[in-house]
Amino acid sequence: KISPVILSGGSGTRLWPLSRALYPKQLLPLVGENTMIQETVKRVSDQDLFTQPLIIANEEHRFIIAEQLRQLGLDDPEIILEPEGRNTAPAAALAALHLENTNPNALMLIMPSDHIITDQEAFIAAINNALPAVAENQALATFGIIPTTPETGYGYIKKGAELEGCTGCHQVAEFREKPDLTTARSYVKSGDYLWNSGIFLFPARTFLDILSKFEPEMLDACRNAMADVEKDLCFLRPGKESFLASPSNSIDYAVMERTDNATVIPVDMGWNDIGSWSALWEVQDKDSDGNVCQGDIIAHSSRNCLLKSEGPAIAAIGLEDIVAVATDDAVLISHKDRTQDVKEVVSHLAREG
Ligand code: GDD
Ligand code: MG
Repeated sequence: KISPVILSGGSGTRLWPLSRALYPKQLLPLVGENTMIQETVKRVSDQDLFTQPLIIANEEHRFIIAEQLRQLGLDDPEIILEPEGRNTAPAAALAALHLENTNPNALMLIMPSDHIITDQEAFIAAINNALPAVAENQALATFGIIPTTPETGYGYIKKGAELEGCTGCHQVAEFREKPDLTTARSYVKSGDYLWNSGIFLFPARTFLDILSKFEPEMLDACRNAMADVEKDLCFLRPGKESFLASPSNSIDYAVMERTDNATVIPVDMGWNDIGSWSALWEVQDKDSDGNVCQGDIIAHSSRNCLLKSEGPAIAAIGLEDIVAVATDDAVLISHKDRTQDVKEVVSHLAREG
């Protein structure tokens, strides 16, 4: 069986003012009734294929996460708590070390907690396609999405030859995390590259072997931290001092850019990482004027807007391509093409205190 490992450490600043440090994007019901992390957990609920998921999260979100898992009827989850994030590579290392303890051949499916996937069947089919390459060749598998724009916040994967005896799996000829705009444009134009979805299927041991080669300090820190892990109900607390000594890095830079044993499975599964308010507008049901209205909203002669309020009424007149989001204590008004810049506003607010 595959062990799902769900990463829940991000703060989703581009979805401010809804997403906050204490209530980041993955813990919000942004699309539909479930929160993003609940949707992620449901995606891997087939017990013939998956074990119970292992969640890696920040200490301060422990009760919200435990409660959201309980709502799904997850009786016995395990949640590894980081005292402070060190990015995704150390988080995945904690998970790999924990899983390897009980099963030296553990396969882990590393998943971000804040994406949507609308075609569940395609998702499961892609995992099944990846299994032989991962289980037999000990390859690191990643799932690739056909790019539509030269987005610079993603990893790009150059698709190599198809693997023998493994339908739909290609060698990764090159992995390049977050290229600059000119490079991203040339990648998209070439047609040879895929976006990295951020979902990985790894043998836990292979991942740890690669870390021992390229990130020995990180692996040592995580190993020491897991050697002093303390269990308290569903929570696992790695040794704080040891973990905080780990360098910070992402799986993409630490492992994917460096390994020569990676395979990519291109998959069209309705993937979207909801990186901004405009992405959220894209994926939601709209009224006949193209507006998404949530909460107490009056939209008059307005088109293609996202209008959302958790508090005061919003009246919009003659607006086009505008995002307006109100909470009890903050209002965001932005052009739909500029919602990436919300993170600038948030860092400004953080500096001003
Ligand atoms: N536990 C834990 N600890 N989780 C973390 C941490 C951490 O320190 N940092 C980030 N995460 C979680 C986030 O909550 C998210 O679910 C996932 O790990 C990925 O982290 P992001 O910070 O969102 O990464 P990114 O969006 O910049 O880039 C990744 O995803 C892209 C696709 O959305 C990369 O894998 C790219 O290559 C990829 O294209
Ligand atoms: Mg992300």
